[in-house]
This record gives sequence, structure tokens and C-alpha cells, in this order.
Amino acid sequence: MVVQLVAPRLMLMGGGSVAKLGEVLGQLGLAKPLVVTDPFMVSSGLVEQALAPLRAAGMAPVVFSETVPDPTDTVIEAGVAVLRAGDFDCLIGFGGGSPMDTAKAMTILAAAQPGTPIRAFKVPAAANAAALPVICVPTTAGTGSEATRFTVITDTERDEKMLIAGLGALPLAAVVDHELTFGLPKRITADTGIDSLTHALEAFVSKRANPVADDYARSAMRLIAPNLRRVWADPKDAAAREAMMRGATLAGLAFSNSSVALVHGMSRPVGAHFHVPHGMSNAMLLPAVTRFGLEAGRARYAEAARIMGVATEAEGDQAACAKLVEALVSWNRDLEVPTPAGFGIAAAAWEAVLPTMAAQALASGSPGNNPRVPTAEEIVALYREVYAG
Ligand SMILES: [Fe+2]
Repeated sequence: MVVQLVAPRLMLMGGGSVAKLGEVLGQLGLAKPLVVTDPFMVSSGLVEQALAPLRAAGMAPVVFSETVPDPTDTVIEAGVAVLRAGDFDCLIGFGGGSPMDTAKAMTILAAAQPGTPIRAFKVPAAANAAALPVICVPTTAGTGSEATRFTVITDTERDEKMLIAGLGALPLAAVVDHELTFGLPKRITADTGIDSLTHALEAFVSKRANPVADDYARSAMRLIAPNLRRVWADPKDAAAREAMMRGATLAGLAFSNSSVALVHGMSRPVGAHFHVPHGMSNAMLLPAVTRFGLEAGRARYAEAARIMGVATEAEGDQAACAKLVEALVSWNRDLEVPTPAGFGIAAAAWEAVLPTMAAQALASGSPGNNPRVPTAEEIVALYREVYAG
């Protein structure tokens, strides 16, 4: 078996590492960064954590702070206009998944002929070219985007969250500092944490799993599962925050070198149509989609349950799988994850888009990596099952 492994060229990990951002650029021979972030990072002052070390290294960083949650094609185009108008040699994605994914999509689009829509790069296209290198600094644990060859951008004309994949989306470097997550609200902590766990689990059960991605996934599940409730209960629990951050990055490496699967395939349309935060829509789907796949991936799901510490070595695969689903349900309850109905989505509105959401899920390719590959009808049934819990 030949495994292709992709990862950033340089990753700095640990508390306080963001202070070395200027040195990291220096090592890479970069000096003219455009910092891509969101308005909250600016208003809260958190972006100074990135700007100060850059200035201390003699650089004059420019800030593009118009990124939005679930970044859109229009924001990417605005960002590329800023990029083309200035004299930059790299992009720094600073924030949660949205600013990082925005920076990645900007560099992909900037490498294309002017006038090319970002839609031209959605899978199955290969987005391998990039205009400038991207350095990612995540402030959540997290999408793992700092370590992946993916970016997800919303097509505003078609209400579709597009998966864009290729070497162009792979950051050159990442600075992963868990101290940046100490101030995260509980809701974001929970949603992003479950997103990370979903990345690791989906990479592990994927049809595209391989021994290298498996090792990342195992490490990530071991770090994330016991710490989800801890960071929820005490946002300042430094050891738990550190474990979650390392777990999120390792989970990113896992799915970047394997894949995500049915949860993510079904989650993107929920985000696109109803603006449910990405990690939360994953969490809404995770128990039911896991139960759906068990019969086809029993040994893998059982091992995942043991790694997460929710089943013992002594328990057989059948029992371990049941414990896994129980644990996923109880984490959702403890972390106060709503159902789509509880989130405020009207039953008629949900029902009306189910065929579209199922078609978009299948078109993304992610369901095809699931241990049990669903039909469109089965996807619709799963959406119905999770609607009111
Ligand atoms: Fe995700």
C-alpha cells in the first residue's frame, strides 16, 4: 500500500508559541504578511497576539478582517482584490476555521485567471496551485484547518457549502497555541471540540483510512474524548485546553490524509441552508450517522470506543459499538447540543429542503467514504431521524 502524506512544512505547537510568529515567517523567508481575520478578533484585541510579534520582527502587517462565519465566495473575491492591490508575500489566517479557510481560498483564487469563480475549484477539481503561502494560527480547537488540504466555501448563488481540496489549500506553516482558546465561549468550545472528534472518528472509519492517518486519528481521539467535558466545565483548564488543541490539529492531519465521511457530507448542507455552526450541525448528526454505519464498520467503531475510553478492552465489538453511540448521545446532552428543531428550524422548512440537502451531501463525495454508503433516501431518513431527536 502506498500512502501519500501531506502536512505543513513547519508547525509550532505549545503555550505561548504565537509570540514566535515573526520568527516563523523569518525562517520561511517571508516578511510581508496580509493577516486574514474576522471583526471579533479585531474588536476583542486578540489579533494583537499575532500583530505584535510580527511588528517586533520589523514587519508591517496589513489586516483584512472582513471574513464571516461560513466564508462566502463574495468575501473571498473581496479578499483577493485586497491581496492583488498590495505587496504581500504571504497570508496569515488568524482565528477559527472561517478566517483560515478564507485565507486558503484567497490564495487558491489569486493563482487563477482573474474572473475565475471559486466554484471552479470545488471537488472533484484539484486545487493544487496557490499564489502565496499561507500560515495558519487557529484560535479554536477546532477545525484542524491549520493542518489540512481542505477549505470549505459557501456558494452564495446556490446556497451550497463547497468542499475545495488540494495542495493549494495546505498551509506552509501553522502556529498552534492553546492559550489563544482560553477566552472562547462555552458554546464555541463545545461545537469546535465535537467537530475535532468527528474529524478523528470519520478519518478512522473512512474507506480511505490508512495506517498513517490511523495513528493521527487514534492520538486525536485519545486526547479529545476525555477532555470535551473538562473544557466545557472549566474554560481555563489549561491541561485540557492543551490536549484539545493538540487533538484538533492531529485530527486535522488524520482527515487530511484520510477523509471525512457521512457526518460532514450531511452537515455542510445543514450549515448552508440553516446557518447552524459547523461543529454543532456535526454534533446533531453524529450519533445517528454513527449508528447507521456500525454494521459495516463494527471493528473500527469498536476500537474507537476503546480508544476514547468509553468501552473496555474486555468488551466485545457489539457492546463497544453500543457504548460509543451512548457516549456520543450523552456528550451532546451534557454539552447542550440542540436538535435542528431545538435550534429553531421549522419542520416545514426542514422537510422542504431534504431532497436538495441529500443531493448536495452525495455530490460532495464525503458519503462515499463512509463505511456504509447511503442512498439519497437513506440520507433523507437520517435527516428526519435527527430533526427532533
Ligand atoms: Fe469539520
